[in-house]
Amino acid sequence: MNGRDLVRSVKVVGMVGTAQGLRTVRSSWRRWRADAAAVVPPGTERARVPGPVTGMEREPGGGVVRFARAELRVRVTAGGAVFLGWDGAEPEPSYALAGRSPEADPRAVLEPDTEGGWRVVSERVTVVVSRYGAVELRTPGGVTLRRDLPPRWWERADGGAGRWVQRSEVPAEARFFGLGGRSSGPRLRNGTYLLWNTDPGGSFGPGDDPLYITMPVQMVVADSGTHLVFHDNTWEGAVSVHEGAEGAGSGHDRAGSCEVRMSGGPLRYWAMVGTPARVLHSWASLTGPPALPPSWALGHHHARWGFGSEQEVRRIVAGYQERGLPLDAVHLDIDHYEAHQVFTVDRERFPKLPQLADELREGGIRLVSIVDPAVKYERGVEAYDSGMAADVFVRDATGRPVRGVVWPGEAVFPDFTDPRAREWWGTLYKERLDQGFSGFWHDMNEPVSFAAFGEATLPRSARHSLEGRGGDHREAHNVYGLAMARAGYEAVRALHPEERPFLFSRSGWAGMQRYGGTWSGDVSTGWPGLRASLSLVLGLGLCGVPYSGPDVGGFDGSPSPELYLRWFQLGAYLPLFRTHAAIGAGRREPWEFGDEVLGLARGVLVERRRLLPYFVTLAHLARRTGSPYVRPLWWGNPEDRSLRDCEDAFLLGDSLLVAPVLESGAVRRSVRLPRGRWYDTATGRAYEGPAKVVVDAPLSRIPVFARAGTVLPVRGCDGGIELEAWAPAQGRSGGGVVVADAGDGWAEAELERFTTRWSEGRVVVEREGGEDGPAPGRSVRVRGVDG
Ligand code: GLC
Repeated sequence: MNGRDLVRSVKVVGMVGTAQGLRTVRSSWRRWRADAAAVVPPGTERARVPGPVTGMEREPGGGVVRFARAELRVRVTAGGAVFLGWDGAEPEPSYALAGRSPEADPRAVLEPDTEGGWRVVSERVTVVVSRYGAVELRTPGGVTLRRDLPPRWWERADGGAGRWVQRSEVPAEARFFGLGGRSSGPRLRNGTYLLWNTDPGGSFGPGDDPLYITMPVQMVVADSGTHLVFHDNTWEGAVSVHEGAEGAGSGHDRAGSCEVRMSGGPLRYWAMVGTPARVLHSWASLTGPPALPPSWALGHHHARWGFGSEQEVRRIVAGYQERGLPLDAVHLDIDHYEAHQVFTVDRERFPKLPQLADELREGGIRLVSIVDPAVKYERGVEAYDSGMAADVFVRDATGRPVRGVVWPGEAVFPDFTDPRAREWWGTLYKERLDQGFSGFWHDMNEPVSFAAFGEATLPRSARHSLEGRGGDHREAHNVYGLAMARAGYEAVRALHPEERPFLFSRSGWAGMQRYGGTWSGDVSTGWPGLRASLSLVLGLGLCGVPYSGPDVGGFDGSPSPELYLRWFQLGAYLPLFRTHAAIGAGRREPWEFGDEVLGLARGVLVERRRLLPYFVTLAHLARRTGSPYVRPLWWGNPEDRSLRDCEDAFLLGDSLLVAPVLESGAVRRSVRLPRGRWYDTATGRAYEGPAKVVVDAPLSRIPVFARAGTVLPVRGCDGGIELEAWAPAQGRSGGGVVVADAGDGWAEAELERFTTRWSEGRVVVEREGGEDGPAPGRSVRVRGVDG
């Protein structure tokens, strides 16, 4: 039992006197016993390595290399991604892939390598397979980006799922990123990162690992290039990272290394090589483009666990309106349910929800509903009765529904890996849409079942459909939230086809961006929590999930006015900008922290609204290219080593660099600027990068820089789009793109490109492909000319 388990047990034992506490103890005991009986211990295991090469067989895009005791399939696909599958593993079936696996690239051919192995040369990467089954990824110029040593398997005598380990080496100066949402990144320092989606069972801070979204997706940035490797395996695993070191003077370099260990499932992986943007583009082509949020979801959201009544919701909304604070969405948490039961409404405290939703919508504010997967275990509860009739709940090895304890008390869990269960679950969203909700907040879907001891999730022996293949929770756990998101997204799209669905989910896995985004979960209130919340957004973006953001102010406790404000200022530059807190925690409305904070928060909200067209553009670009809105500083300059270690600032699209204040009392901070000219948007002063500069960061604002030459769309006074162009350096040019939403439906939005250049002593902004002169139809404001 680790420390966290201990804390949880103490908490639950504290509840023992209560009915919920007793149910938790009973239920976790039952789950533990079921596991003990059903999960067979491994018994004797036999280790295996590939052994020497014995032959090969060509296939389109590569072929199969045979070894004495294993075989490896190498397939270069049309999008440039390379598939590597040991022992017959194919790309499908896969929860990560969007539809079918991409076609093989017929131009890529397996040919003999000089050292007795085999190689496949393709446009972006050369894959070299050694005589003993090591695999090297090399740039077209021949520089090694990664070397995977021959894997090792441990097979069970009873034929059950075997475990395996794969160790890899990367250049000495390489840095690791990704692995889903990690609290102590985005740079993944030496350590072991677990692959098992987990609710930490309380609020978390840096170092708490794993959290709600884990993914076997690593992005590795080195001088010679960037690559992404994705082990398509949903089982529990661990990735140990060791950064390398360059030998000082005559010393030797120590390569970086990483070791992926999986407790079962296939050893198959995808590799993508190129610039960071290219790699993310390949990743999005493979796993699907990110869902495009409706534009209101790019505004400000206010949530609270414990609004408690319609009157309170109205009071909060009025509070925003009376104080001139823009607000776009209000989220209702579990306290609006009847007895915490999903897809119900407490009619005493929320008697006229559809009317409230209409009223809010007229004022430009949408209602978002929390949706938890656990269904109350009680006859007469509609979702329980219909779910039992449809036979969609997770069952144990003896065929009984697995019971756990969540907010509604004793509960059962839909098996979202069963297409029938997704279909059934989807029908339940009609009730939510009828109540007037416009968006969905999936929660507790790791899935959580409170536990007095053992794990706070379903027993590993619980049976799942896994799309009809059959299997248990060991394989289904990590994709539970992903499959739930699919069910919700597809249902809402079908029930309400005229608007794009808005959905974000606490748990998920590779490919979850197809259905929506996420948020940072129950981040602890404190300066470390603030830092962790940025780490999560950056890391998830590099795993292809571009839309996320933290609970501004932190989930628990009460932030100081300064911490609240600094969190608010950061949140305003992240895709999901939401204030939220736990029941019993201090308030999070901007007026609860004194007049000074209120005035400054108003400025932040007004600026977020001004930037809305830019956020909309970034959302469209994320969909089209896979590039996240929020990017690490090295995004455009991965060869700049100092930027790889920079974790306290980020790029927002191509135009802006945001340097939040993450320390108490700071009113100045240093910022590392990538190459090129950057303007401090508050002072207009120009700085030349690469450089480390120290700038003012008074309480009233965090430093935000604009890239010289950029064009960004902002909201003008009349509500229309205005172009904010920043002067290029003399003799240079620049540009930017604008994608204006054609409503919140499915109409294809037009992409406009603009260029900036100097001409006769002034900055000219032109639409690409248009006439000379100012961009037609758009008012333009040029800034930075005096910089
Ligand atoms: C979980 C969620 C949190 C929510 C709470 C009650 O802790 O992470 O956002 O407020 O449950 O539903």
